[in-house]
Amino acid sequence: MHHFEHRNGTLFAEGVSVKELAERFGTPLYVYSTATLTRHFQAFDSAFASMEHLTCYSVKANSNLHVLRLLASLGAGMDIVSGGELYRALLAGVPAERIVYSGVGKKPAEIRQALDAGILMFNVESVQELLRINEVARDMGKTAQVSFRINPDVDPKTHPYISTGLKKNKFGLNIDNALEAYALARDLPAVEPVGIDCHIGSQLTTIEPFLEALDKLLIFYDKLKGLNLNIRYLDLGGGLGINYNEEEPPHPTEFGAALTKALGHLPLKLILEPGRVIVGNAGILVTEVLYTKQTPSKNFVIVDAAMNDLLRPSLYGSFHRVDEVVPQGRPAQDVDVVGPICESGDFLAKDRLLPEVRQGERLAVYSAGAYGFTMSSNYNTRPRAAEILVDGEQAIVARRRETFESLVAQEL
Ligand code: LLP
Repeated sequence: MHHFEHRNGTLFAEGVSVKELAERFGTPLYVYSTATLTRHFQAFDSAFASMEHLTCYSVKANSNLHVLRLLASLGAGMDIVSGGELYRALLAGVPAERIVYSGVGKKPAEIRQALDAGILMFNVESVQELLRINEVARDMGKTAQVSFRINPDVDPKTHPYISTGLKKNKFGLNIDNALEAYALARDLPAVEPVGIDCHIGSQLTTIEPFLEALDKLLIFYDKLKGLNLNIRYLDLGGGLGINYNEEEPPHPTEFGAALTKALGHLPLKLILEPGRVIVGNAGILVTEVLYTKQTPSKNFVIVDAAMNDLLRPSLYGSFHRVDEVVPQGRPAQDVDVVGPICESGDFLAKDRLLPEVRQGERLAVYSAGAYGFTMSSNYNTRPRAAEILVDGEQAIVARRRETFESLVAQEL
């Protein structure tokens, strides 16, 4: 459920006309809805109300400071994967003790930065990383709280690029060797193992893979008891999918009920790292039709947003619904919606039935709030889009459109 809907023949983001936003701020334009973000966060978080938990929003999905600030004000913690994300989270006012740090390649400076801030824990992905964290913490006279990310070898049945919990993936520790790693951590002076972590992939549309992973983790948790550690957190990562097209992912309530049932009796605080499910359908990308052209084999709608603005269709072949901002009621045509970038892989939609559109009209690309702006680039020296955050009748510029000057600033 989101707050983008047509009213009186034109698309609204909450109480604001998207056409007016495009006229005022130009295109391509990301537009986010505060009411949707709030609703999604609260729906997710409240699904776990019956057990001790912390919802650590995954910053990589949408790292705009205004979005982070809003989620922090609703009680969110954050899941980060870089020093840059830590910097953003702290700037947005997220208390450090609500931050967990994941990722296979944390650099010493980033580890130091996180220890300085006093984050809740590191989700450690290799023995070498553990040793490095121990070294850095020892030099700082601190103790680092750590969890190991366990790779349970479960197929999340999603796109291969975003599957992370299979044996062949680079993530986490093999579940069969993880016990040794905990024993090592126990004996190191400057780390304290406090949790178990796992993230098996993204855009999962069924609960079964989560439960399959959880089963394996709980067997592992039992084995860990022999080491006499004080394990108090279980981090199940993110990954709950959303509806882009015809997927029917479980509602967070259903997800929460299933996990709570499996875990509620254990003395563990559950940590969750949702990204997409919070922000995905809380954002759209608005673009203007520059040209239409017919070739013997295709109808192309050439728009001013491109793969540099929204990479998902090019990179994963992802489906994003595309629709007119102000529907004109013309008959539908089979079209490719493409951007100005010099690659045939630059498309937002392929072989799509779309009402005939004309130059100067605008299209909305839906479900663009997650991994949209954060994966954008300056390819073809295109300034990145502005981001607008709508709240009721208000619209604020959450990020200004980049300028040519800002693009070359680091090169002068
Ligand atoms: N936790 C960890 C350790 C992760 O690696 C991720 C996502 C999440 C949480 C959040 O997952 P979510 O709830 O958003 O599924 N660029 C891809 C998605 C990559 C996801 C990477 N990791 C896309 O556009 O579909």
